[in-house]
Amino acid sequence: MSPTSPWWRSAVIYQVYIRSFADGNGDGVGDIAGIRSRLPYLKSLGVDALWINPWYKSPMADHGYDVADYREIDPLFGTVAEAEQLIEEAHEHGIRIIPDIVPNHTSDQHAWFQAALAAGPGSPERGRYIFRPGRGPDGDQPPNDWDSRFGGPAWTRVPDGEWYLHLFTPQQPDLNWQHPEVHAEFESVLRFWFSRGVDGFRIDVAHGLVKDPDLPDLPPLPAPADGQPRPHTDHPFWDRDEVHDIYRAWRKLADEYPGDRSFVAEAWTDTPERLAAYVREDGLHTAFNFDFLMSSWDPKDLRTVIDDTLAMLGNVGAPATWVLSNHDVMRHPNRYGRTAARRWLANESYVPEGPLDLQLGTRRARAAALLMLSLPGGAYVYQGEELGLPEVEDLPESVLQDPVWERSGHTERGRDGCRVPIPWSGQAAPYGFSPDNASAEPWLPQPADWAERSAEAQTGDEASMLQLYRSALSLRREHPALGDGGMTWLDTPAGVLAFRREPGFVCLLNLSTEPYRLPDHTSILLTSEPVDDGRLAPDQAAWLAV
Ligand code: GLC
Repeated sequence: MSPTSPWWRSAVIYQVYIRSFADGNGDGVGDIAGIRSRLPYLKSLGVDALWINPWYKSPMADHGYDVADYREIDPLFGTVAEAEQLIEEAHEHGIRIIPDIVPNHTSDQHAWFQAALAAGPGSPERGRYIFRPGRGPDGDQPPNDWDSRFGGPAWTRVPDGEWYLHLFTPQQPDLNWQHPEVHAEFESVLRFWFSRGVDGFRIDVAHGLVKDPDLPDLPPLPAPADGQPRPHTDHPFWDRDEVHDIYRAWRKLADEYPGDRSFVAEAWTDTPERLAAYVREDGLHTAFNFDFLMSSWDPKDLRTVIDDTLAMLGNVGAPATWVLSNHDVMRHPNRYGRTAARRWLANESYVPEGPLDLQLGTRRARAAALLMLSLPGGAYVYQGEELGLPEVEDLPESVLQDPVWERSGHTERGRDGCRVPIPWSGQAAPYGFSPDNASAEPWLPQPADWAERSAEAQTGDEASMLQLYRSALSLRREHPALGDGGMTWLDTPAGVLAFRREPGFVCLLNLSTEPYRLPDHTSILLTSEPVDDGRLAPDQAAWLAV
C-alpha cells in the first residue's frame, strides 16, 4: 500500500453491534462503556476502525434503526459525553470510529413524526414524511402496492384516514427526501458528530432515500433471461439515480473536515455497475460489496465476483471492500457449512435449510478470511467472526426479538441468531459479556457450549480462529503487498484460486476436492490449517512469500 493512500482505501473495519458486544453496566445489553473496556482487545486484534451500529435515542423497534433523536445517545448505551470519551480513547489506540447514520426513516417517536401526526392532513409537518390518502371509495386501501421489507404492506393508516409510507416496520416512517428541511437536518446531524471527532459514517439503506414522486405501483418484473429472474429497471424506491445528488452534498461536507472523514454505503444494487455509481470521486468513498458476501463457495462464482468488483470500482477509482458477515445475514460458517453452500439472495432473511456441517463451514470460514484479507482494498470483520462464532440457529421462539419474526407472521425467524452476545471469558453465560454483579441476563441467551469460543479461551491457542485473524491482520499491516493496490491471477486448475500481489505475495485457495501442491515459494507466511507435505488440502488457503 502506498503511504500516501488515504486510510479508508485499505482499512480493516470491525463492526460493533453495540447491543451484543460488551455490557459495561450489567443490564444485559451492550453499551459504550463496554466498547471502551474492550479497546485493548481491538487494538491487539489489529483493526483500523470500528463501525458502530446505531447508538442514538430510540424506542428500539428495530434495535436502534428507528431513531428518535440523532443528537442523543440512547440511555441503554450511554451518553453523548461517553461517546466523546470513546472517540478520544479509540483515537489514542489508533482506532477510528464510524457510527451508523439512518437517513431513510426516523422512529415514529421522533419529534418530527409526532408533530406530523398532530398537525393533520395537508400540514407542512406531514410534508417531511410521505403521507397520502388511501385508495378505494373509503380510502381504506393503501395508496399503492408496495410491501415492507419486513413483511406486510409498506403503508399504515393513521386515525384521520391518511396513510404513511414505511419501507421497514410501521415504527420506521420514511422521510421525504424531496423536502429541503430533511436535507438541512441531516447535514446538521453529520456536522454534530463530525465536530465530535467521528471519522465517517456507515449510511443505512443508502439506496432507498429517494422515491418516485408519483409513488406508482411496482411495475411488472421484466421477463426472465436465460431462465434467471431479472430485477426491475427504474424501481420506484430502490437505487434511484437521484440519491447521488444527496451524497455529492455529503461528500463536500465531509471534505470540509480535516483527517479524511469517509462514508460507506449500505447499498443493495442489482449490478456492480450500479454499486460503482455510489463511489465516484464526488460521491461516497466506499460501499459494502454484498456480492462477495452472497457468493456461493464456488471458484467460478467467487472469481467472477472478485473480477467484476475490481473492474467496476477500478473504473471509478474507488477501492473495493470485502465482507463476509454482518448483523443482517446468517453468519458465514453456517452459510458455508451447508452442502450446497449456495448463492445467497439480496437481503435474504434466514430460514434454516438442509443439514449443517459446522466443522466444514468453519474450515471454509478460515480459508475465506485469508482470501478476504488479502484481496485489494478494505475489509469488514463482524464482531465474533474472529472467534469463529456460528449462527445460533436454535434460539427458542419465545426469545426472538427481531421485528421480522412478528411481521412475517412467524414464518421467518429473523436476524437474532447472528446477534447473540459475544463470549469474552469464563465457563458459563454470560461469559464475561456482562460484569459479575450484573442485574440482568444477556438480552439473548448464549449457547451452553460457548466457553471454548470465548476470546480468553482462544488467546494464545495457535489453532484458534482468533489467532488466525490476529496473525492475518498483523501480516496485513506489515506486508507492503497487502491492502490497496492491484492483483494478478495465476494459472491454476479450475478448482484452485491463486493470485499474486507485488511485491512477492501469493494467496491460494483450494476449492477443489483434491489436494494441491504449493507452487515455489520462499516461505509460507500463513495457512488456514496446518499444511501437510507441501500440499494444500480442499477448503484450505495459504499466504506465500515468493
Ligand atoms: C439496514 C440495517 C438493518 C435495518 C434496516 C432498517 O438494512 O442493516 O439492520 O433493519 O436497515 O433500518
